[in-house]
Amino acid sequence: MGLDVDRVRARYPALADGYAYLDGAAGTQLPDSVIDAMAGACRAGLGNAGGAFPASRRSDAITAGCRRAVADLTGGRPEGVILGPNMTTLTYRLARTLAAGWGPGDEIVVSRLDHDANVRPWVQAAAAAGAGVRWADVQLPEGDLPLATFAHLISDRTRLVAVSAASNLIGTRPDVAGIAGLAHAAGALAYVDGVHATPHGPVDVGELGADFYATSAYKWSGPHVGAVVADPGLLESLAPDKLVPAPGEVPDRFEQGTLPFADLAGVTAAVEHLASLAGAAAAGTRRERILAGLAAAEAHEQDLFRVLLGGLDAMDHVTTYGKAARRTATAYFTVAGRTPRQVAEHLAGRKVNVWDGDNYAWELAGVLGLRDSGGAVRAGLVHYNDRSDVDRLLAAVAELGG
Ligand SMILES: Cc1ncc(COP(=O)(O)O)c(C=O)c1O
Repeated sequence: MGLDVDRVRARYPALADGYAYLDGAAGTQLPDSVIDAMAGACRAGLGNAGGAFPASRRSDAITAGCRRAVADLTGGRPEGVILGPNMTTLTYRLARTLAAGWGPGDEIVVSRLDHDANVRPWVQAAAAAGAGVRWADVQLPEGDLPLATFAHLISDRTRLVAVSAASNLIGTRPDVAGIAGLAHAAGALAYVDGVHATPHGPVDVGELGADFYATSAYKWSGPHVGAVVADPGLLESLAPDKLVPAPGEVPDRFEQGTLPFADLAGVTAAVEHLASLAGAAAAGTRRERILAGLAAAEAHEQDLFRVLLGGLDAMDHVTTYGKAARRTATAYFTVAGRTPRQVAEHLAGRKVNVWDGDNYAWELAGVLGLRDSGGAVRAGLVHYNDRSDVDRLLAAVAELGG
């Protein structure tokens, strides 16, 4: 059950502008079905939550449907899906909530592989609580986070381990299940940043051992909505800051203020889109079709990535970063004699969208020695990229040599 990339691309109106969208790691384009779902929700009429009239009931139904969709995407339970503006906001919220139970003598473990959104909220919450912070270092040149590193850092003082399911800079996929296993054996919780990982392969929060799994729909063809998936029983044990009249049940009590109902309709449509990626041959429940769709996306992306990475590594004027055995199709590279911004501008002139900079993987950019020189260039593949996108990037980078 392969991915028919021409069929997939035809569903993305934005791709008609002729650019090679290799900026998917920073945010993906929207297929028609997602755009239509959001517009359709608005056209039908939406009310605020919990009212007695049909427009309000439509909003409530959209929220419930969105929780079911995100649960299907991640292998979680709808009652454990917290929705909100983005991963960063939700992580700050949970860090503050969890840190209420920390004090001197407690420790957390964070990594230098992670996006800062899965680092700083924990470091700052630990500082406020008087708890200690232990850092998991990245092994170079692989750019990996070995399990043994965590074995040395985690102890019976550890309350939480925050780790990424995939690096948004160099794609590394650490052994999250192993790391979470060590955390659990010590009585600690595992907070897994799945923002970059989610669109690049099947996700199962149970298999990962993630007590919390954070994701952002705008990285997988949805609108700008974040979600954290957790065991509802764990959420029941936590008391986030909330307004007195706001709902007290789980997961609602973690959701501050009014949800973006039209966007939530788009999130559900984005999950349906992922479920369709393996084509008509994929059958079964939505969860089964999502797993097939993401497996097809992963195979497609990895095929293209071999061409992309092989092409970049063959150029003497290019240096690529990261060599982890398991990684997403995310290339991070510098070009001799050019700043990352100059490379990105040159590529934009050739109708290729890439990002330059540290992409908020602040610690990792420091580890790679790139923080003070403008980072590097990131070209990330998602399921709608095709061979012509890769060839155009390689041709444009080749022009910068010699
Ligand atoms: C790996 C990773 N974690 C976290 C974030 C932050 O996500 P959000 O924009 O939803 O706050 C990003 C955004 O680029 C990311 O790539």
